[in-house]
Amino acid sequence: MTTQTLPSPLHGWRLFSLLAVAVLLMSALILLLEPNLVEATRSAIRATARSSFVLFLLAFTASAWAVLLPSPRVQALGQALVRERRYIGLAFAFSHLVHALLIYRYGQLNPQFWPGRSALGNLPGSVGYLFILLLALTSFKGPAALLGRRAWKRLHTTGMWVLAAIFAYSNFKRIPLSAWYALPFAITGAAMALNLLGKLAQANKRRQRQALNTR
Ligand code: HEM
Repeated sequence: MTTQTLPSPLHGWRLFSLLAVAVLLMSALILLLEPNLVEATRSAIRATARSSFVLFLLAFTASAWAVLLPSPRVQALGQALVRERRYIGLAFAFSHLVHALLIYRYGQLNPQFWPGRSALGNLPGSVGYLFILLLALTSFKGPAALLGRRAWKRLHTTGMWVLAAIFAYSNFKRIPLSAWYALPFAITGAAMALNLLGKLAQANKRRQRQALNTR
């Protein structure tokens, strides 16, 4: 095993399966342990939003860690994150699929839920799901090839930023309910800054390499 390789059980589809099973176990435990099913479903919705958030942050900042971390040892961890980004991203999509299924169930258990929400209130989440679907589908070879490299890159960059903005907004609007939501809001802001810094560092490296090659 090189320093750049994650241990084999944490690789590719195995990593995806492990993360997906963890999300399912977490949701099942919450539903089993909380005696009130309506409250339990709401807690599981919140929990899957949080598992999605962690997975999203890893995928969103992977390239930045790979280029910004100072020592080669920790840099290798960043490179491993970049290599596994597709599976981490798909695990994020899976976690959000569970979020959606739980929301559907919650709507059945609490008939006031959907009438209490406006179309405008559902807009950011619906746009988010549209991008999650597009990003997940185009993470497979066939649809990605149909799209072409440039359009793929544009779609994935736009999609990840739209999702980051939705996470920021979803947490920001809950700050009046609990000051704790300021923490994930600030983390999202930090992740956005890190993503941009990573891009700048990559562009810098590319320029330095080109300058060396033209000497
Ligand atoms: C129309 C689609 C969506 C609906 C109807 C919806 C609904 C919900 C509901 C009912 C909650 C629990 C609220 C509570 O008990 O306080 C929740 C939490 C949350 N959702 Fe969604 N959601 C949607 C899409 C999304 C998307 C696409 C994202 C992110 C990309 C997202 C991120 C969050 C976050 C961050 C929380 C807060 C979790 C916490 O309490 O820490 N949601 N959502």
